[in-house]
Amino acid sequence: MYKGIIFDMDGVLADTESYYTNRRDEYLGLMGYQRQENTDFTGSNEKALWETMVPNDPELRQETIKMYKEDFGLTVGMDELLIPAGGTHALYVVMQALLDEGDEVIAIAPYYTYYKDQIEAPRGKLVVYNAPSEDGFDVDLAELEKCVTTRAKAIIVNTPCNPSGKVYSEETLRGILALAEKYDFLVIADDIYGALNFTGNTRPLCSFEERPKRVITVYSYSKDFSMTGLRLGHIIADREIIEVACNICGAVTFTISSFSQRLGIYALRRRKEIQQGLREEYQKRMMYAYERMSRLKHVKCRYPEGTFYIFADITETGISSMEMWDRILDEAHVLVLPGDGFGAAGEGYIRICCTVSVEVLKKAFDRIEKMDIFC
Ligand SMILES: Cc1ncc(COP(=O)(O)O)c(C=O)c1O
Repeated sequence: MYKGIIFDMDGVLADTESYYTNRRDEYLGLMGYQRQENTDFTGSNEKALWETMVPNDPELRQETIKMYKEDFGLTVGMDELLIPAGGTHALYVVMQALLDEGDEVIAIAPYYTYYKDQIEAPRGKLVVYNAPSEDGFDVDLAELEKCVTTRAKAIIVNTPCNPSGKVYSEETLRGILALAEKYDFLVIADDIYGALNFTGNTRPLCSFEERPKRVITVYSYSKDFSMTGLRLGHIIADREIIEVACNICGAVTFTISSFSQRLGIYALRRRKEIQQGLREEYQKRMMYAYERMSRLKHVKCRYPEGTFYIFADITETGISSMEMWDRILDEAHVLVLPGDGFGAAGEGYIRICCTVSVEVLKKAFDRIEKMDIFC
């Protein structure tokens, strides 16, 4: 679907005396563009090639603001939004902006592996709340509250969650926000699988506020648009946080790829059609993997709620998640990930990534089901 993105390279280059003007055909060829009339990019080609200034492309920021208003009723100002180079960069920048030495950030385990490094880089401290596996890794608010200390600066909430695929209810999200208000800490909403949600609980955390205040939203085009290579995302937060984040971005990457930002505009304008197709495709793959996985002896699986990961319980096999990872790779030549890589709460689980077609998944499961341990 995305291979078809086509630019009109006439217009700007034709009336602009620039380095690129003289080398138009060379650049077109290098970038693999084709010319086409009536695209969104008429007259904006130059912007795809010239650098933007932090907080980056104003048109993409406007388009992002429009999306939050239309989809979630949230009012975002131009000074409450920054475009970073994807979710990883966004999280790094947010941690650098927020944390002083010893400040604590709570992560709900099992959690995305890089949170630990991102928190520790500015000498912050990761505080782990182990979500109970028997409830599909749902949050118990009373238990979570026990993790809050006077040094709590923020909590990261990732829903739908990598690796568990868990989608938190509105009640849970409101409960977390209430805790943040009670103890005065921030909520970092890692919304990067926002569109890959197969439940009715699709309201993002930011939509519970009228303006960005306590919630910092981190977003990426990697999963929701399957545009991993663009390295594109956004951060939405209170303007003081964005101001500091802009200074950090300026020092780390200065600006980010202008070309990616132009593609971001294209993606946001077509988000409904792109994301519906993606969601349906991933759900189909997840259901297939879920059914095949559930048929294996000694394996338990939860009905998929979101993302494209199946987090399967292998405790009954009596072997560790590391050993299971090794054996599946060795005996079936299939790569899964050991659950303990996502924090201790993930021990006894393996993560299966459904980013490949049903045909490829079928081949993988045909091999896995022949392993002695699952017969
Ligand atoms: C929960 C979560 N957050 C953030 C990221 C970073 O995404 P990216 O840097 O590709 O935008 C990932 C990537 O897998 C993720 O799973």
